[in-house]
Amino acid sequence: MKKIFVLIGSRRKNGNTAGFAKRITDRLDKEKFEVEYAFPQDFNIAPCIGCSQCFLRTECVSNDDLRLLHEKILESDVFIIASPVYMHYFTADLKLIIDKSSWWAHTLRLQGKPVVILSTCGTNGHDTVINALDKLITFMGGNVIACSNAAALPRQLGNDKWMQEVSEEIANRINKYAYIPHQSNTDLEELFPHMKAAALMQKAQSEEDGYSIDEFNEYIYWRDTGMINYDSFDKYLNEKYMCKEVVV
Ligand SMILES: Cc1cc2nc3c(=O)[nH]c(=O)nc-3n(C[C@H](O)[C@H](O)[C@H](O)COP(=O)(O)O)c2cc1C
Repeated sequence: MKKIFVLIGSRRKNGNTAGFAKRITDRLDKEKFEVEYAFPQDFNIAPCIGCSQCFLRTECVSNDDLRLLHEKILESDVFIIASPVYMHYFTADLKLIIDKSSWWAHTLRLQGKPVVILSTCGTNGHDTVINALDKLITFMGGNVIACSNAAALPRQLGNDKWMQEVSEEIANRINKYAYIPHQSNTDLEELFPHMKAAALMQKAQSEEDGYSIDEFNEYIYWRDTGMINYDSFDKYLNEKYMCKEVVV
Protein backbone atom coordinates (compact mmCIF):
# COMPACT_ATOMS: atom_id res chain seq x y z
CA MET A 1 0.00 0.00 0.00
CA LYS A 2 1.42 3.39 -0.99
CA LYS A 3 0.77 6.41 1.20
CA ILE A 4 -0.36 9.76 -0.18
CA PHE A 5 -0.31 12.66 2.27
CA VAL A 6 -2.27 15.74 1.18
CA LEU A 7 -1.59 18.97 3.03
CA ILE A 8 -4.23 21.60 2.25
CA GLY A 9 -3.49 25.24 3.09
CA SER A 10 -7.20 26.13 3.30
CA ARG A 11 -9.41 25.65 6.35
CA ARG A 12 -12.37 24.93 4.06
CA LYS A 13 -12.58 21.14 4.11
CA ASN A 14 -15.16 21.17 1.34
CA GLY A 15 -13.58 24.10 -0.47
CA ASN A 16 -12.14 24.44 -3.95
CA THR A 17 -8.60 23.34 -3.08
CA ALA A 18 -9.64 20.17 -1.26
CA GLY A 19 -12.11 19.53 -4.11
CA PHE A 20 -9.35 19.83 -6.73
CA ALA A 21 -7.05 17.49 -4.81
CA LYS A 22 -9.91 14.99 -4.33
CA ARG A 23 -10.58 14.87 -8.07
CA ILE A 24 -7.03 13.55 -8.37
CA THR A 25 -6.89 11.20 -5.38
CA ASP A 26 -10.35 9.75 -6.19
CA ARG A 27 -8.82 8.37 -9.39
CA LEU A 28 -6.26 6.31 -7.47
CA ASP A 29 -6.91 2.63 -6.82
CA LYS A 30 -8.08 2.27 -3.19
CA GLU A 31 -6.44 -1.15 -3.01
CA LYS A 32 -3.07 0.40 -3.82
CA PHE A 33 -3.17 3.86 -2.24
CA GLU A 34 -3.96 5.02 1.27
CA VAL A 35 -4.79 8.75 1.14
CA GLU A 36 -4.73 11.07 4.15
CA TYR A 37 -5.84 14.71 4.08
CA ALA A 38 -4.65 17.33 6.58
CA PHE A 39 -6.05 20.82 7.13
CA PRO A 40 -4.47 23.60 9.22
CA GLN A 41 -7.13 23.44 11.94
CA ASP A 42 -6.35 19.75 12.55
CA PHE A 43 -2.87 20.55 13.83
CA ASN A 44 -1.66 22.85 16.55
CA ILE A 45 1.33 24.67 15.05
CA ALA A 46 2.79 27.36 17.29
CA PRO A 47 4.19 30.52 15.66
CA CYS A 48 7.91 30.42 14.90
CA ILE A 49 9.76 32.39 17.58
CA GLY A 50 12.90 32.75 15.47
CA CYS A 51 15.22 31.02 17.94
CA SER A 52 16.93 29.06 15.09
CA GLN A 53 17.21 26.02 17.32
CA CYS A 54 15.79 23.86 14.51
CA PHE A 55 19.07 24.41 12.66
CA LEU A 56 20.94 23.13 15.69
CA ARG A 57 18.63 20.41 16.94
CA THR A 58 16.35 18.08 15.01
CA GLU A 59 13.24 19.26 16.75
CA CYS A 60 11.51 22.60 17.13
CA VAL A 61 11.50 23.97 20.69
CA SER A 62 7.71 24.52 20.57
CA ASN A 63 5.57 21.83 22.07
CA ASP A 64 3.23 21.56 19.10
CA ASP A 65 2.21 19.12 16.35
CA LEU A 66 5.04 19.99 13.94
CA ARG A 67 6.82 16.70 14.55
CA LEU A 68 3.66 14.71 13.81
CA LEU A 69 3.06 16.66 10.63
CA HIS A 70 6.68 16.19 9.55
CA GLU A 71 6.41 12.45 10.17
CA LYS A 72 3.33 12.23 7.97
CA ILE A 73 5.08 14.10 5.15
CA LEU A 74 8.26 12.05 5.44
CA GLU A 75 6.44 8.70 5.65
CA SER A 76 4.38 9.39 2.53
CA ASP A 77 5.31 7.90 -0.84
CA VAL A 78 3.82 10.91 -2.61
CA PHE A 79 3.25 14.28 -0.98
CA ILE A 80 0.57 16.64 -2.30
CA ILE A 81 0.80 20.24 -1.11
CA ALA A 82 -2.08 22.52 -2.08
CA SER A 83 -3.20 26.04 -1.29
CA PRO A 84 -5.76 28.58 -2.35
CA VAL A 85 -4.28 31.83 -3.62
CA TYR A 86 -4.58 34.45 -0.90
CA MET A 87 -3.39 37.85 -2.06
CA HIS A 88 -1.11 36.37 -4.74
CA TYR A 89 0.53 33.94 -2.33
CA PHE A 90 -0.18 30.74 -0.45
CA THR A 91 -2.02 30.97 2.84
CA ALA A 92 -0.49 32.10 6.13
CA ASP A 93 -1.41 28.72 7.63
CA LEU A 94 0.80 26.97 5.10
CA LYS A 95 3.56 29.58 5.37
CA LEU A 96 3.81 28.90 9.09
CA ILE A 97 4.36 25.19 8.50
CA ILE A 98 6.91 25.93 5.78
CA ASP A 99 8.77 28.49 7.93
CA LYS A 100 9.00 25.89 10.66
CA SER A 101 10.47 23.39 8.17
CA SER A 102 13.29 25.73 7.12
CA TRP A 103 16.12 23.37 7.97
CA TRP A 104 14.69 20.94 5.41
CA ALA A 105 15.59 23.51 2.73
CA HIS A 106 19.28 23.22 3.66
CA THR A 107 19.36 19.44 3.65
CA LEU A 108 17.24 18.23 0.70
CA ARG A 109 15.29 16.52 3.46
CA LEU A 110 12.56 15.20 1.14
CA GLN A 111 15.26 13.09 -0.55
CA GLY A 112 13.73 12.94 -4.02
CA LYS A 113 10.18 12.22 -2.80
CA PRO A 114 7.59 12.79 -5.56
CA VAL A 115 5.62 15.96 -4.81
CA VAL A 116 2.50 17.40 -6.47
CA ILE A 117 1.83 21.13 -6.11
CA LEU A 118 -1.72 22.46 -6.49
CA SER A 119 -3.44 25.79 -6.10
CA THR A 120 -6.86 27.26 -6.74
CA CYS A 121 -7.81 30.88 -7.27
CA GLY A 122 -10.52 33.26 -8.39
CA THR A 123 -8.75 34.63 -11.42
CA ASN A 124 -5.08 35.35 -10.86
CA GLY A 125 -2.06 35.34 -8.53
CA HIS A 126 -1.36 31.63 -8.90
CA ASP A 127 2.09 32.03 -10.48
CA THR A 128 3.46 33.45 -7.27
CA VAL A 129 1.99 30.47 -5.38
CA ILE A 130 2.99 27.65 -7.73
CA ASN A 131 6.45 29.07 -8.47
CA ALA A 132 7.20 29.71 -4.80
CA LEU A 133 6.05 26.26 -3.71
CA ASP A 134 7.97 24.66 -6.57
CA LYS A 135 11.15 26.45 -5.48
CA LEU A 136 10.69 25.70 -1.78
CA ILE A 137 9.90 22.04 -2.34
CA THR A 138 12.91 21.71 -4.65
CA PHE A 139 15.17 23.27 -1.98
CA MET A 140 13.70 20.70 0.39
CA GLY A 141 14.80 17.93 -1.99
CA GLY A 142 11.34 17.07 -3.32
CA ASN A 143 11.02 15.91 -6.91
CA VAL A 144 8.13 18.03 -8.21
CA ILE A 145 6.23 15.74 -10.60
CA ALA A 146 3.26 18.05 -11.32
CA CYS A 147 2.11 21.62 -10.70
CA SER A 148 -1.38 22.83 -11.46
CA ASN A 149 -3.68 25.72 -10.68
CA ALA A 150 -7.45 25.61 -11.08
CA ALA A 151 -9.10 29.02 -11.47
CA ALA A 152 -12.75 29.95 -11.13
CA LEU A 153 -12.25 32.14 -14.23
CA PRO A 154 -11.34 31.12 -16.88
CA ARG A 155 -13.64 28.29 -15.87
CA GLN A 156 -11.48 25.44 -14.69
CA LEU A 157 -12.85 24.73 -11.19
CA GLY A 158 -16.36 24.16 -12.47
CA ASN A 159 -15.31 22.66 -15.78
CA ASP A 160 -15.70 18.91 -15.69
CA LYS A 161 -13.77 18.29 -18.91
CA TRP A 162 -10.79 20.38 -17.73
CA MET A 163 -10.87 18.72 -14.31
CA GLN A 164 -11.01 15.24 -15.82
CA GLU A 165 -8.06 15.84 -18.14
CA VAL A 166 -5.87 17.47 -15.50
CA SER A 167 -6.73 15.04 -12.72
CA GLU A 168 -6.15 12.05 -14.98
CA GLU A 169 -2.71 13.30 -16.02
CA ILE A 170 -1.66 13.98 -12.42
CA ALA A 171 -3.08 10.68 -11.16
CA ASN A 172 -1.11 8.89 -13.89
CA ARG A 173 2.08 10.56 -12.72
CA ILE A 174 1.33 9.61 -9.11
CA ASN A 175 0.75 6.01 -10.20
CA LYS A 176 4.12 6.02 -11.91
CA TYR A 177 6.29 7.83 -9.38
CA ALA A 178 4.88 6.12 -6.29
CA TYR A 179 6.27 2.84 -7.57
CA ILE A 180 9.76 3.81 -8.68
CA PRO A 181 12.76 4.73 -6.53
CA HIS A 182 13.15 8.40 -5.59
CA GLN A 183 14.37 10.50 -8.51
CA SER A 184 16.37 13.66 -9.02
CA ASN A 185 15.58 16.25 -11.71
CA THR A 186 17.41 19.09 -13.47
CA ASP A 187 16.48 21.69 -10.82
CA LEU A 188 17.72 19.45 -8.02
CA GLU A 189 20.93 18.69 -9.89
CA GLU A 190 21.59 22.39 -10.38
CA LEU A 191 21.01 23.05 -6.70
CA PHE A 192 22.96 20.14 -5.27
CA PRO A 193 26.57 21.46 -5.62
CA HIS A 194 25.61 24.85 -4.12
CA MET A 195 23.93 23.24 -1.14
CA LYS A 196 26.82 20.87 -0.62
CA ALA A 197 29.26 23.83 -0.75
CA ALA A 198 27.19 25.58 1.94
CA ALA A 199 27.31 22.50 4.17
CA LEU A 200 31.09 22.25 3.73
CA MET A 201 31.45 25.98 4.48
CA GLN A 202 29.59 25.43 7.73
CA LYS A 203 32.09 22.73 8.68
CA ALA A 204 35.11 24.88 7.71
CA GLN A 205 33.71 27.79 9.75
CA SER A 206 33.24 25.58 12.81
CA GLU A 207 36.86 24.47 12.58
CA GLU A 208 38.09 28.05 12.18
CA ASP A 209 36.00 29.31 15.10
CA GLY A 210 36.72 26.26 17.25
CA TYR A 211 33.21 24.98 17.93
CA SER A 212 31.88 21.49 17.37
CA ILE A 213 30.22 20.78 14.01
CA ASP A 214 28.09 18.23 15.89
CA GLU A 215 25.95 21.13 17.04
CA PHE A 216 24.86 21.76 13.46
CA ASN A 217 21.91 19.74 12.39
CA GLU A 218 22.38 20.57 8.73
CA TYR A 219 25.96 19.43 8.24
CA ILE A 220 25.29 16.37 10.39
CA TYR A 221 22.43 15.43 8.08
CA TRP A 222 24.68 15.78 5.01
CA ARG A 223 27.34 13.70 6.72
CA ASP A 224 25.11 11.01 8.21
CA THR A 225 23.08 10.39 5.06
CA GLY A 226 26.34 10.21 3.08
CA MET A 227 25.17 12.95 0.66
CA ILE A 228 28.33 14.91 1.42
CA ASN A 229 30.37 12.24 -0.40
CA TYR A 230 28.54 12.65 -3.72
CA ASP A 231 28.91 15.10 -6.60
CA SER A 232 25.33 14.69 -7.74
CA PHE A 233 21.97 14.10 -6.07
CA ASP A 234 21.10 11.64 -8.81
CA LYS A 235 24.08 9.39 -8.05
CA TYR A 236 23.36 9.59 -4.33
CA LEU A 237 19.66 8.69 -4.77
CA ASN A 238 20.51 5.88 -7.17
CA GLU A 239 22.81 4.26 -4.70
CA LYS A 240 20.61 4.93 -1.69
CA TYR A 241 17.37 3.68 -3.25
CA MET A 242 18.62 1.12 -5.77
CA CYS A 243 17.82 -1.75 -3.40
CA LYS A 244 14.23 -0.54 -2.95
CA GLU A 245 11.72 -2.97 -4.41
CA VAL A 246 10.28 -1.69 -7.67
CA VAL A 247 6.74 -2.87 -8.39
CA VAL A 248 4.99 -1.28 -11.35
C1 LIG B 1 -8.28 36.30 1.81
C2 LIG B 1 -8.46 35.84 0.39
C3 LIG B 1 -7.58 36.29 -0.58
C4 LIG B 1 -7.73 35.89 -1.90
N1 LIG B 1 -6.85 36.32 -2.84
C5 LIG B 1 -6.98 35.95 -4.13
C6 LIG B 1 -6.06 36.40 -5.14
O1 LIG B 1 -5.10 37.10 -4.88
N2 LIG B 1 -6.30 36.02 -6.42
C7 LIG B 1 -7.37 35.24 -6.79
O2 LIG B 1 -7.53 34.96 -7.97
N3 LIG B 1 -8.20 34.74 -5.84
C8 LIG B 1 -8.04 35.08 -4.53
N4 LIG B 1 -8.90 34.58 -3.58
C9 LIG B 1 -9.91 33.56 -3.97
C10 LIG B 1 -9.45 32.15 -3.60
O3 LIG B 1 -8.13 31.91 -4.00
C11 LIG B 1 -10.32 31.08 -4.26
O4 LIG B 1 -11.67 31.31 -3.99
C12 LIG B 1 -9.90 29.69 -3.81
O5 LIG B 1 -10.36 28.75 -4.74
C13 LIG B 1 -10.43 29.32 -2.43
O6 LIG B 1 -10.03 28.03 -2.10
P1 LIG B 1 -10.68 27.20 -0.89
O7 LIG B 1 -12.14 27.07 -1.20
O8 LIG B 1 -9.98 25.90 -0.89
O9 LIG B 1 -10.40 27.98 0.37
C14 LIG B 1 -8.77 34.98 -2.25
C15 LIG B 1 -9.66 34.54 -1.27
C16 LIG B 1 -9.51 34.95 0.04
C17 LIG B 1 -10.45 34.43 1.09
